Amino acid sequence: MSNQYLNLIQNAPAAEPNRQHYFIGQLKQHIDTWTAKLSRKPTACITTFGCQMNARDSEKLAGILVASGFLMTENEEADFVLYNTCTVRDHANQRIYGRLGKLNHYKKKNRQMKIALCGCMMQEEIAVEKIKTSYPFIDLIFGTHNIYKFAELLLSMFHNHEMIIDIWQDTDQIVEDLPTERKFPFKSGINIMFGCNNFCSYCIVPYVRGRERSRAPEEIIAEIKRLVADGVIEVMLLGQNVNSYGLTDSVNEKQTTFPELLRRIEEIEGLERIRFMTSHPKDLSDELIEVMANSKKICRHLHLPLQAGSTRILEAMNRRYTKEDYINLVEKIRRAIPGIAITTDLIVGFPGETKADVDETIDVINKVKFDNAFTFIYSKRTGTPAAAMPGQVPPDEVKQNFDRLLKAVQETARTQVDTLVGETHDVLAEEVNTQNPTLLNGRLSNNTIVHFKGSPDLIGQIITIKIKESHGFYYIGEFSR
Ligand code: SAH
Ligand code: SF4
Ligand code: F3S
Repeated sequence: MSNQYLNLIQNAPAAEPNRQHYFIGQLKQHIDTWTAKLSRKPTACITTFGCQMNARDSEKLAGILVASGFLMTENEEADFVLYNTCTVRDHANQRIYGRLGKLNHYKKKNRQMKIALCGCMMQEEIAVEKIKTSYPFIDLIFGTHNIYKFAELLLSMFHNHEMIIDIWQDTDQIVEDLPTERKFPFKSGINIMFGCNNFCSYCIVPYVRGRERSRAPEEIIAEIKRLVADGVIEVMLLGQNVNSYGLTDSVNEKQTTFPELLRRIEEIEGLERIRFMTSHPKDLSDELIEVMANSKKICRHLHLPLQAGSTRILEAMNRRYTKEDYINLVEKIRRAIPGIAITTDLIVGFPGETKADVDETIDVINKVKFDNAFTFIYSKRTGTPAAAMPGQVPPDEVKQNFDRLLKAVQETARTQVDTLVGETHDVLAEEVNTQNPTLLNGRLSNNTIVHFKGSPDLIGQIITIKIKESHGFYYIGEFSR
């Protein structure tokens, strides 16, 4: 470690976010020198795995890279590559290991290349141990709790030749006001809370994301106002369980609840659409249903993970609702908010799950008629209570049950989606269709995608579309100005 670097650290302010702004300034000088050597800006690529929370984190990481002088690219043959990882299912981890070999190959061609890993998988000791021994070419590893220190970590990576590992077990800090680079100019995710306290018995998220922490409502409102001033018309409020916003920690002194927060966000002028995810059925209040029913901006969509339809399995999963609770809740929601789309997550093959249990899930699918469902095969996560449960289900039985569930979901989803054909709806035009560039992709309030002919200058606007055909999970529509 050079004296120059030690001096840099000693002179850094202690308080955040000033400390990180100071490190961005230092990084800028470093990147300027690199730019001069290369006669071009060094390039940086972030590859994101996992959920919307990770996607939002990547926008913050990209913000730091751009502010420091990197040119962002989607090509992993870049001067700096960062993988923002997920570990919710083992498959996610295997994908990452699979891709690291390719990065090593790129690094052999470009000796100056740096590689970093962050995100949920890095909060697992076994994963980090494996990387240390099998992937020694990685330059920097950090976790979910210290991503706000990215500028500081990057600078130390450039001044050291050994792998840097900085993982925290938890944090109570929320650092605001660092730069971000949004993927879409007209819509944005906003974290309203971090972490999870629910400990569903199969799930690793509470272990890798820590305890629930809610952001202060004033900070959230101020961030949305800044985004709206910058052209954003749709926000997606993010949290593992948004319904417990403000209830489980002391950051938010007035204990503003989620429905109250929504009411305040609704008043922001210029904001047109509000989405949120995810809602845990056990915490979805009547007040939330009322706020949604009366709102002009909250989208007609609720993602309400069921996970399983058998009360016995739900209990073993520690979900804290029964099959009947879930069905009654959906009936109440549909009565109060006609036309709302309800989507869900399902897990097949939880320890001890029998064919009869899966029949119960199919029964819920047929009663609730989900507009869409993500069906996952249970993945054993070391350290979770379910990993030690007896009755792990054999893979061929899981496969049969998975196929049965998928068929049920596809049938109800199709009938649900078909009901809108012939109607006229507002859609937000989001992007050019990759398969057919004469088409645009738009999104209905209920979250379904519509393809329609239109010019790219419509992107970012809410326009009215006549729905012509249903294709299962998307529509073909027509726009006439
Ligand atoms: N907080 C959200 C979900 C976060 S994880 C919620 O509670 O709804 C997203 C989805 O991954 C979960 O809804 C669940 O269906 C699935 N999932 C989580 N852990 C899993 C595991 N061990 N195996 C398979 N699927 C899992
Ligand atoms: Fe995982 Fe359950 Fe928390 Fe969702 S609510 S993140 S499934 S523990
Ligand atoms: Fe994956 Fe972490 Fe999200 S484990 S699903 S990226 S919270």
